[in-house]
Amino acid sequence: MCGIIGILGKADVAPMLLTTLKRLEYRGYDSAGVVVINDGSMQTRRAVGKLEALEMALKAAPLQGNSGIGHTRWATHGAPTEANAHPHRAGKVAVVHNGIIENFQPLREELLAKGHQFASETDSEVVAHLVMRAMDQGQSPAQAVASTLARLEGAFALAFLFDGEDDLMIGARRGSPLAIGHGEGEMYLGSDAMALAPVTSRITYLEEGDWVVLTRNSQQIYDALGNGVSRPEVMVNVDAMQVDKGNHRHFMTKEIFEQPSVMALALSHYLSPDHSQIHVPGGAPDFTRFDRLVLVACGTAYYACHVAKYWFEQMARIPVEIDVASEFRYRAPPIGRRDMVIVVSQSGETADTLAALHYVKGKAGQVVAIINATESSIAREADLALPIKAGVEVSVASSKAFTCQLTVFAALAILAARQRGELDAAGEKAQIAKLVHTPRLLDEALKAEPQMAAAARELAKARDILFLGRGPLYPLALEGALKLKELSYIHAEGYASGELKHGPIALIDERVPVICFAPVDALFDKTVSNMQEVMARGGKVLLVSDAKGIARAGKGTWAQLEMPECDPFIAPIIYAIPAQLLAYHTATEKGTDVDQPRNLAKSVTVE
Ligand code: G6P
Repeated sequence: MCGIIGILGKADVAPMLLTTLKRLEYRGYDSAGVVVINDGSMQTRRAVGKLEALEMALKAAPLQGNSGIGHTRWATHGAPTEANAHPHRAGKVAVVHNGIIENFQPLREELLAKGHQFASETDSEVVAHLVMRAMDQGQSPAQAVASTLARLEGAFALAFLFDGEDDLMIGARRGSPLAIGHGEGEMYLGSDAMALAPVTSRITYLEEGDWVVLTRNSQQIYDALGNGVSRPEVMVNVDAMQVDKGNHRHFMTKEIFEQPSVMALALSHYLSPDHSQIHVPGGAPDFTRFDRLVLVACGTAYYACHVAKYWFEQMARIPVEIDVASEFRYRAPPIGRRDMVIVVSQSGETADTLAALHYVKGKAGQVVAIINATESSIAREADLALPIKAGVEVSVASSKAFTCQLTVFAALAILAARQRGELDAAGEKAQIAKLVHTPRLLDEALKAEPQMAAAARELAKARDILFLGRGPLYPLALEGALKLKELSYIHAEGYASGELKHGPIALIDERVPVICFAPVDALFDKTVSNMQEVMARGGKVLLVSDAKGIARAGKGTWAQLEMPECDPFIAPIIYAIPAQLLAYHTATEKGTDVDQPRNLAKSVTVE
């Protein structure tokens, strides 16, 4: 899983390869590389680590030339070493690859038996060797790529350059996205339109199975059967500016603190101007057409679905099934016309979520996507794409996208309740009024940051941490644990408070902090009982509640974090703040790489 870029330019391409790769770093950042054609012959620079390492390598040994391909990697086959970094070369061929070649092992053995020697442990290198072999047998570069594609299984986006061919670049996609960018006498390939934004907004998206032969002034696209096809050129409106951190030390805090304002933006998108009705620009889904909702996503977006299940079921009385996309797609569940499927993705490129969308298309009555990246594959392929309006999210761990996903879900749940007769006009208005308070309450919650930082100083010493929550706060416990794990590398688990006694309680001792998300709601006393069970066994409880909750149950806890009082409906949105900031401060306390934690990627484009 990786980001790929290709440029047939009019000037030196190395600096632009770096600029565009920087915008693909969300796809992986464990190593990177470029190949540039210099005086007719290809030269490579590769480096382990983030793009800065490649930048240094290019400073130390610059590359000149107007044609090049580049890659930023998230290792799948082979450790993140320089030898495994892309581009991979074989003879006259250089290739960059995003995806997984599933049959690379038999292909590699076949090539080894024929005398080929491999320089890396990657699946990708076999592609370069297959193309080189075909060219050695007399095929043109285009024929060699076509015959190679026919032998590959798995998912890929590929870009090729050829020694001695300064005006030729070939791209191909199956399962992983790839877009052509059009310039004035220049041609580009990129994993997405956002990467290409600094050079062009004129984009042609390749479709599944397509491959393309590019020169500076021409493109010939073929479909999977080898027929020449034309695909539309579209103008995309993506921000070419590289977002910065403002006054923040990390993108993560910038994005956490942006939540009140981006949430207000998301709300204004989905509310009528007088705040009396939910209004979905572009056409509201009709929830009366469906007997069931199926919500599918990965990671943090999945936890947003988990909260939404409570909202839809309680408010709109519609059954909801939720699943992580990687399970959903392979368990092949029955889906019918009376099901609405909602896929949720910040990036709109997560491979498992995209595959889940492909699975339900044509089966479900409607496929709705809740997405941040409006030019993404998921946004383009869904029947209806609903933007979350969070703005670019750079930090690998999701924060503002989560609260904006929740905002869209909250609006949809109110809409569904209204359409299905569970809320009357006054009820709809009353629920909206609660939502409208959320940005202000998020602001208040953020003011507790110093207390969260103080608690994090203790949390940073722990080896294991538990998070507890009930009802719609249970998914927040899961999200809190996920955030803490990914940012601070401390083992953490989230549990439904009532489930603790069925096993996890065995873990409790004075070294295991237990963080309880417990706003005063209908289930508060039950959560407090579970908290007491922890304290009775020497457990160290951090109670996250409102003033009333702390007054009622704070006694005997190790620490308390006061959140603003809020209606139970919106509590999951407000409690996202401590879930995020506790993880953030624990991580900074430990000195980990907050914005780009080890082994992770912002958008996981392999399954
Ligand atoms: C990765 C990210 C997570 C994110 C998940 C789903 O694992 O590190 O922060 O929640 O992918 O991403 P998506 O773009 O589909 O929301």
